[in-house]
Amino acid sequence: MQRVALVTGCSSGVGLYTAVHLAKQGMRVFASMRDLTKAAALTNAAHAAGVNVELVRLDVQHEEQVEAAVSDILALAGRLDVLVNNAGVGMLRAMEEMSEAEIKQVFDVNYFGVVRCIRAVLPTMRAAKSGHIVSVSSVGGLVGQPLNEVYCGAKFALEGMIESLATYMEPFFNIKFTIIEPAGIKSEFVNNAMGGGFKAAASATGDYAPVYKAYTDAIAARGSFETLAQTSEQVAEIIVAGIVNPGPELRIQTSAVAKAFAAEKLSGDPDGTSLQRKVRIGTLGLKG
Ligand SMILES: NC(=O)c1ccc[n+]([C@@H]2O[C@H](COP(=O)([O-])OP(=O)(O)OC[C@H]3O[C@@H](n4cnc5c(N)ncnc54)[C@H](OP(=O)(O)O)[C@@H]3O)[C@@H](O)[C@H]2O)c1
Repeated sequence: MQRVALVTGCSSGVGLYTAVHLAKQGMRVFASMRDLTKAAALTNAAHAAGVNVELVRLDVQHEEQVEAAVSDILALAGRLDVLVNNAGVGMLRAMEEMSEAEIKQVFDVNYFGVVRCIRAVLPTMRAAKSGHIVSVSSVGGLVGQPLNEVYCGAKFALEGMIESLATYMEPFFNIKFTIIEPAGIKSEFVNNAMGGGFKAAASATGDYAPVYKAYTDAIAARGSFETLAQTSEQVAEIIVAGIVNPGPELRIQTSAVAKAFAAEKLSGDPDGTSLQRKVRIGTLGLKG
């Protein structure tokens, strides 16, 4: 039986390549994006790879669009085996300098967007007693970083939710959860996160000026993002490998840089399996 996947945020970057590589693995892929006029990059990449992906309009900020997308997929394919929560947005700025609307936007995409998609797919996955939900977090979902407090807060919230769901969804409903933790990725994301709002804040004089200067100086001193960061396709290949051959781990750091960054926080339990076993035994009386 051909497995069916839904991927969010496929207009560019990791989502685009995840959709294409899942299709290369023989899966039926519904590649979603909020603005279908941006579909050319995806359809060109799919064409170049010799695969087909089916386009779906899905803005993770709109519950009715999420539900309509999932019910359309079920009507067309009759099943949904894999959800990849990839859509995300960054906004690098001191929290005090952000508007409440901007702060809510970061949480709405990175946290509530994932909540909406998971709630939409759970009924069918629970009924099938089978499913895999993969959510793209970040090393910023584990380790707080300067001027990134709002994004890290949203990704921490995402990780807390997934970690909690994973304690009982797999043992009771056979639905597996995986958290993906990349470090830097060469995609539109960084340009967007460090766009107009960041540039204006970084060039302003004021109490935060030394923080922005220290931050931008450190970026320059660290060396080229081009050499340190992964490509979107490299991250996508790791995501797809974790879907095709799922292991027991809860967390996958996608690179040596990501592993090193997270190491101190995770040193006792790098992939989350040990703590998950302890929580399942201690709170649910399961064998592990
Ligand atoms: N790039 C990095 O350095 C980095 C590092 C760690 C983790 N991540 C995470 O990796 C994931 C993928 O990011 P990327 O690097 O591939 O960046 P990207 O190229 O900017 O892709 C982000 C995708 O999310 C989509 N998106 C944004 N808001 C959306 C919404 N409301 N509904 C549906 N889709 C929406 C974007 O669509 P539009 O084109 O319509 O905006 C785009 O397709 C994100 O979750 C991000 O947090 C990125």
